[in-house]
Amino acid sequence: MPMRKRARLLKPLSQKIARKLRQDGLCGLFRQGLNEAGIWFRGRGRILPQDSFDNEYGTDTGGVIPLWKLQIDSPHSNEGVRYQTLEAGLLRELIGSLPIRHEDFVYVDLGSGKGRSLLIASEYPFRKVIGVEFSQELDVIANRNILRYRPPNRRCGNVSSICVDAADFRFPPDRLVVFLYNPFGTGVLSRVLENLERTLHEHRREVWILYSNPVHADLLDGAGFLDRENLALPDNAAVYKTGN
Ligand SMILES: C[S@@+](CC[C@H](N)C(=O)[O-])C[C@H]1O[C@@H](n2cnc3c(N)ncnc32)[C@H](O)[C@@H]1O
Repeated sequence: MPMRKRARLLKPLSQKIARKLRQDGLCGLFRQGLNEAGIWFRGRGRILPQDSFDNEYGTDTGGVIPLWKLQIDSPHSNEGVRYQTLEAGLLRELIGSLPIRHEDFVYVDLGSGKGRSLLIASEYPFRKVIGVEFSQELDVIANRNILRYRPPNRRCGNVSSICVDAADFRFPPDRLVVFLYNPFGTGVLSRVLENLERTLHEHRREVWILYSNPVHADLLDGAGFLDRENLALPDNAAVYKTGN
């Protein structure tokens, strides 16, 4: 194939890779590559190890859903990251790595999608578990999943998903664990941090932020009211805590 024709064919691909790199970082890009390779292999009858969570519990938390497929009533839809979730064991390890008494805390997942992290958080004795999701379609699925998920080790019965833009979410006046799985870009993340700082001025309390695939960690590193904690964490995650 002539060089010029090959360059014309490859240009859209390199633009797509650059866009994904900006959105999800290097690890996200690598994981997406593995994901797509998995789909490719499965399509050809080669069985790769699959995430069995939904099969086991009759829930619907899997898959990858680009946001353009959803009707989202928010000025921030263009900086939202597509729906996808983490492997259940990894979520357990992440949440379990926090050195806290869970019963003193409310767990909030900002950008909670179909709610898998809410289901896993309900295995810990949190005071309450709240999911914040701006797609109504995903929020409805999450609430259905919450009703279905009844494992024997469920320790929190107060679990809900609400359909709100994370930029407008008002934090409850409790001690908080805020979970972020790279849900949005810097515009929304800055608004979230401003809201958090404001509520801390009103009511000083302990807040932990568990940020998985921390593409915009620099924003949290620069927030004067947060300290980065040096915990032994699985996978690609960063943990922050309100300073003293
Ligand atoms: C990568 S998924 C994470 C899903 C979930 N946290 C999990 O770990 O299973 C990102 C989610 O954030 C949601 N999202 C993006 N921007 C949002 C915003 N401004 N407000 C609320 N949800 C948002 C998307 O719709 C998507 O469901």
